[in-house]
Amino acid sequence: MYTTRTYCRETADIALDTEVTLFGWLDTMRDHGHIVFLHVRDISGVVQVVLDPEILGDLSQLKLRSESVLSVTGRLRLRASETFNSKLHTGKIELFASQLSILNHSETPPFLISEREGDTSSDELDEDLRLRYRYLDLRRPKMQNYLIKRHHITKAMRDFLSSERFLEIETPILTKSTPEGARDYLVPSRVHHGAFYALPQSPQLFKQMLMVAGLDRYFQIARCFRDEDLRPTRQPEFTQVDLELSFTDEEGVMALVERLLVAALSSVDIKLELPFTRITYDDAMLHYGNDHPDLRYDMRIIDVTHVFHDTQYNIFKGIIQAGGAIRGFIIRGQSDRLGKNVLQNEFAKTIIPQLGGKGLTWMKLENGELLSNIVQFFSKAELDSLVDLLEAKDGDVLVFVADRDPAKVSDILGKFRLYLISYLSLVPNVSFAPCWVTDFPMFEKSDTGWAAMHHPFTQPSELLSETPDDVWMGSVKARAYDIVLNGVEIGGGSVRNHRADQQERLFKLLGLSETDIEEKFGFFLKALRHGAPPHAGLALGLDRLVSMALDTPSIRDVIAFPKNRMAYCPLTQAPDHVSDLQLADLSLQISQPKGDATQRR
Ligand code: AMO
Repeated sequence: MYTTRTYCRETADIALDTEVTLFGWLDTMRDHGHIVFLHVRDISGVVQVVLDPEILGDLSQLKLRSESVLSVTGRLRLRASETFNSKLHTGKIELFASQLSILNHSETPPFLISEREGDTSSDELDEDLRLRYRYLDLRRPKMQNYLIKRHHITKAMRDFLSSERFLEIETPILTKSTPEGARDYLVPSRVHHGAFYALPQSPQLFKQMLMVAGLDRYFQIARCFRDEDLRPTRQPEFTQVDLELSFTDEEGVMALVERLLVAALSSVDIKLELPFTRITYDDAMLHYGNDHPDLRYDMRIIDVTHVFHDTQYNIFKGIIQAGGAIRGFIIRGQSDRLGKNVLQNEFAKTIIPQLGGKGLTWMKLENGELLSNIVQFFSKAELDSLVDLLEAKDGDVLVFVADRDPAKVSDILGKFRLYLISYLSLVPNVSFAPCWVTDFPMFEKSDTGWAAMHHPFTQPSELLSETPDDVWMGSVKARAYDIVLNGVEIGGGSVRNHRADQQERLFKLLGLSETDIEEKFGFFLKALRHGAPPHAGLALGLDRLVSMALDTPSIRDVIAFPKNRMAYCPLTQAPDHVSDLQLADLSLQISQPKGDATQRR
């Protein structure tokens, strides 16, 4: 019965008068009494079907309703030209039905699935309702399209890596904790009383051990688990395109990943220009206020502290004397839209304080002259320097923030820059702006001492000091690189420590005792001692990459069954309580319930 299936969209390319059989869902129905028009939908699209009671008998017997599952056989014919539907790929034809069967009925769906006439009203729906009925949400053509494109992107990456001699190898899900900076999801062991597996935060240690094994080019579409606070770009379980290769360095990995991303995105008709921009961590922090700059837009933050070294303006003078900085950027051609009221009362008095700043200095360049509420405090030389440094032109607005803490200045301006992009609905210069961020600090201060900024398997760019002080720890760079797309970190990696002595010294610098090192990483250090080759790698966040490529508001849209903002699955109601028997099997006892799981639903 199913062997003669034709997909709805394909009917547009089949000769008229051919007999075809469609299988799909009832999208919409118009009953004209003597004749009924249906739209039948399957994964490929929609086609109009004409039901004639004279041929099919009493249609009311069939109890046709939206989302009924149908099989329709009939001949293709041209529609009357005045009823051509240019919005539909199959809009010039229709199927005149000779047979119709209802394969299954459907309860009334809680929201509209049909996207007839481009209706996307379901997008406004409560997300938990969509997640509760995810199988219906995913029946919507728009959502299906996301998953189809995700498949194309994933397949293109598999094909590319396979053609570059990479082997796809699976690593364990029930494993030991690998530090990636988040909390672990733990799985109690029934057999090993009181012991727990950890779900992998990434396959980091296993892929490195595959390099020791001589499987010198590995990749995996790997599920990773991290118990951390959720954001639109974060899920507790997510997918990495994880890769590692031997006898290479940062240049080797970056060149490979550039070609990988070009191949991945060309599968969904997105063209990326090679080579990608590179920016050091220090420059990214200075010029964009964060380590994941959105380079689709200008408004680069520029340091102008030196302009004001002899200034008479007391606020700037005090800040410079205290070791602070004055930085700013230019908003091109927005002088008309940004009046004094917005700049002073909205931005300077409300927005900047919300972003952590004390105030905003603004100037407009009109008829070759800088105008502002405090312009009279500056010398002509100072004003001329600002115009030169920021390459200001008539119609531009200049904004500056000053603070005793230079890092805070860029942080505030970086956030203000993003605020303005959205406030002014600025049009990006390019649709996709990938960039590498390099030269990260090796260490960052944590509550308990120093932590590895990337992860502790990354090689420092210089040999580790025997007698490190805080200045040294703060200045050492890592051989790590992040890949950023349109302001979102879509991947990260590094050159690894392949020598056990250096890896061990690094663990010690991070405050691990000999016992800790042996307990947590003894097996790994032993592997490094057995002929580990130099190696490097990277992992791409697949959900983030697909979400950026398809421009979805959240990565949840490109994951078939995501968790909600509370790390809860409204469809299956996980996580859930388990029976006392199950707990007893695992020798576990819930000491003090922290609150009812149902409260999170
Ligand atoms: P990292 O921790 O940077 O590196 O992770 C790699 C990429 O995975 C994505 N990502 C996430 N995506 C969705 N939800 C999350 N909770 C989440 N966390 C991370 C990001 C990130 O860039 N083992 C190293 C890689 C390596 O060194 O080879 C690692 O996991 O896009």
